[in-house]
Amino acid sequence: MRNFLIAGNWKMNAGPSEAREIASNLVDALNNGSFSAEALICPPAISIQTVSEIFADSPFKVGAQNVHTEDNGAFTGEISTSMVKDLDVTHVIVGHSERREYFHETDKLVAKKTKKIIDDGLTAIVCVGEKLDKRKSGDHEKVVLNQLDHALNAITRDNAANLVVAYEPVWAIGTGETATPEQAQEMHRFIRFQISERWGKDRAEEVKILYGGSMKPKNAEELLSQPDVDGGLIGGASLKADSFSEIISIAEKISK
Ligand code: 13P
Repeated sequence: MRNFLIAGNWKMNAGPSEAREIASNLVDALNNGSFSAEALICPPAISIQTVSEIFADSPFKVGAQNVHTEDNGAFTGEISTSMVKDLDVTHVIVGHSERREYFHETDKLVAKKTKKIIDDGLTAIVCVGEKLDKRKSGDHEKVVLNQLDHALNAITRDNAANLVVAYEPVWAIGTGETATPEQAQEMHRFIRFQISERWGKDRAEEVKILYGGSMKPKNAEELLSQPDVDGGLIGGASLKADSFSEIISIAEKISK
């Protein structure tokens, strides 16, 4: 029995009205039934409350895409862990490549946010992944290891169950190009090995390692069938209730 986490990252899509529609369709698509895979949607901050209310009596969880490192104060435009917890958020994405690229988030800041998220009782989904040039030059493991090291150094082995690592090769995000199942498995195994070197094998097993980058119903089965792929962080395909629910159903099928 495998415990998958199927997470949707809506990015800057779906304001409250659209979010209401997609979230309701998701609950309907899975007939509000129980499923053993953990399913999570991370809407833009302005839609968290709407989605949280719709998911209240369903197995779906709600996550945030970003938080600040402080609880409150003069940080115009930012939101904090205590604010998202008020809306029953359970997970927070941190270090997404889009935030690293467009908002200049450094490994140091990602580490600080990771610690804040976990210290405040939430699960951190730490994104790592190389750009195409590093994949081509064979430096992909080096890049991922460096990103991973910063996050792991900020927390302790006792935090393993509240850490999720999402491997998102930048060249596969929103491009329609997916890592092959072998490429995904190879990197996931590498990430798990690195965690086990630091925290031991048991702790490394507690950390879920998700794959992200053009995951869709048509490639989900082969990706999720890899032994070290514990789920997906899904962008485009999470904005449609039918494709996201199909991926959840695929995870359900494999987990049995
Ligand atoms: P896509 O599934 O649209 O490629 O996005 C992946 C991603 O960035 C999820 O965080």
